[in-house]
Amino acid sequence: MGSSPIDVRERPPYAVDQFRVKTEYESDLESILISEGEIENRVAALADDISEEYATRSGRELYAVCVLKGAMRFFGSLTPQLDFDGAFSEGVVRADRYSGGEGADRTEVRFLERDMIDGKDILIVEDIIDEGRTLRAILERLDDYDPNSVEVAVLFDKEARRAVDVDIAFTGFHIPDEFVVGYGLDYDEEYRNLRHLGVLKDSRL
Ligand code: HPA
Ligand code: MG
Repeated sequence: MGSSPIDVRERPPYAVDQFRVKTEYESDLESILISEGEIENRVAALADDISEEYATRSGRELYAVCVLKGAMRFFGSLTPQLDFDGAFSEGVVRADRYSGGEGADRTEVRFLERDMIDGKDILIVEDIIDEGRTLRAILERLDDYDPNSVEVAVLFDKEARRAVDVDIAFTGFHIPDEFVVGYGLDYDEEYRNLRHLGVLKDSRL
């Protein structure tokens, strides 16, 4: 749907010292993979793609759901730029993965209530997809409800790590298999307020 994702997997990253980065973060970062300006530019294009798609579904209500917490920044930039006729509302979902030993992983999906979902066009807004298990769990929960439609928008796709199949309608960037932080993404709750998307040094992991 709409514009193509930007592939930064083969692109040389930027040196950290080319950016104004909080001093405490500077020594932890290997490089800057995508600048804030490039991200905002792509978010604007995604907003156009999404607006165009939902213009053809007018008369219904679009319910945009922010996947906490990493997608907060993406969501906050994206949704004010949406422009289509029809009702619009916003919500949040939280999915926490628990490893129960012996490989018995489960994902707890919270805040996704049936009465907010039924009859609406649902747009799940996620910061990053790697294995795809979080999104899979959210989509499975929606299978139990009765939405009019369900689509997924993901800002960063680390496709090399995919373990389960997830259908993504709107993708921002294809990124390499590196641990990235910033633009809302964290490592152990740190770095979310880094403006750009940076690669964390292995020595920090
Ligand atoms: N950074 C932050 N959060 C993540 C990542 C990443 O690279 N992959 C999956 N969640
Ligand atoms: Mg996340």
